Amino acid sequence: MLAGKKIVLGITGSIAAYKAAYLCRAFIKKGAEVQVVITPAGKEFITPVTLSALTRKPLVSEFFTANDGTWHSHVDLGVWADLMLIAPATAATIGKMANGIADNMLITTYLSMKAPVFIAPAMDLDMYAHPSTQQNLEKLKSYGNYIIEPATGFLASALEGKGRMEEPDTIVQFIEDFFEKKSPLAKKKIVITAGPTYEKIDPVRYISNYSSGKMGFALAEECASRGAKVILISGPVKLNTIYPSIKRIDVESAEEMYRAALEYFPQMDAGILCAAVADYKPVHYSENKLKRKTGEVLDLKLTPNPDIAAALGQIKKPGQILVGFALETDSERIHAEEKLKKKNLDFIVLNSLKEAGSGFQVDTNKITILDSLGNVKDFPLKSKKEVAKDIINETIK
Ligand code: CTP
Repeated sequence: MLAGKKIVLGITGSIAAYKAAYLCRAFIKKGAEVQVVITPAGKEFITPVTLSALTRKPLVSEFFTANDGTWHSHVDLGVWADLMLIAPATAATIGKMANGIADNMLITTYLSMKAPVFIAPAMDLDMYAHPSTQQNLEKLKSYGNYIIEPATGFLASALEGKGRMEEPDTIVQFIEDFFEKKSPLAKKKIVITAGPTYEKIDPVRYISNYSSGKMGFALAEECASRGAKVILISGPVKLNTIYPSIKRIDVESAEEMYRAALEYFPQMDAGILCAAVADYKPVHYSENKLKRKTGEVLDLKLTPNPDIAAALGQIKKPGQILVGFALETDSERIHAEEKLKKKNLDFIVLNSLKEAGSGFQVDTNKITILDSLGNVKDFPLKSKKEVAKDIINETIK
């Protein structure tokens, strides 16, 4: 659930700050990216070197870097993050957050935050029980923030009571549960085809296309980051994925991709067919390398490959969603509509090779989505990661 998530971890001046190192490690282990924002008091309790070594990123603490004047944008962090966690959150920080007292980088980041905010208080039992703290926490709840209640136990003051910051594992679990409950894709199963296929001519040659697989991999990662279990059937590509919930099946030919897709689709909630499948393969595979014969035309006979999308469209059951792609160079809308109907898809993602920034090998795409009810939706040019979000949002709808 946390793989690929961008997390702003706010650390404040409490003895529980040492637990932030465990939090960083747990988030990173789950495939998340962590940016620490620490208050000046926080740095008295845990060293920036520990945190930057764990997160592999410099910490953000001041509004400016003293030596070169670089400005740290709390606004950019607010847009970048998928979630913000303040752990440990002291009574002072909770008070400032509740009242908008923006006198340090952590509070300005909080005020600019567009993502859900989680707060794990840590303080002495009397400070926690004080009506002022309780009122501030109520205020923060009313702003839509989530409080991860402190535990009861032995405190640094040698007293016993409620105020201990919750253990890192429990905090991580709380956040994972939150995203799982919120995500309509949680536990859904999705099969995605990606990349090109290779159709062998002889031991050293094949027929293929320019597909890089980037769009299909971006879709798989988007689904996984929203809690889905993904079967990614990929042709030969130079890409990796780090998500444990993506099961990758590497294939080479259209025939192999077809067999894998047919095997998995019946148990899936959705299929997204993003692969650039070679339409034809050589009728005969030559066991020996074909020799060049000067002056002679080589007659290579090709036979059609199975149409994976059409085959899945035929066995699609009610409740299953099937999404296809159409990469066209002419009469784009007409061809896309034909494919949508012929292959029994729920919607088709059209991209035109004529559009600058669309198509093979690039990191951007400009799409139009046509659905089986006749609706047409144009999207602006975006990164393939952003396009994947749009496609998954449509699939969820
Ligand atoms: N597709 C597939 N299996 C094939 C060919 C295509 O699953 N053998 C899928 C693609 O992954 C895509 C959709 O069908 O989701 C349309 O692919 P495209 O290559 O645009 O269409 P084709 O049916 O191959 O038609 P043409 O190449 O003639 O445009």
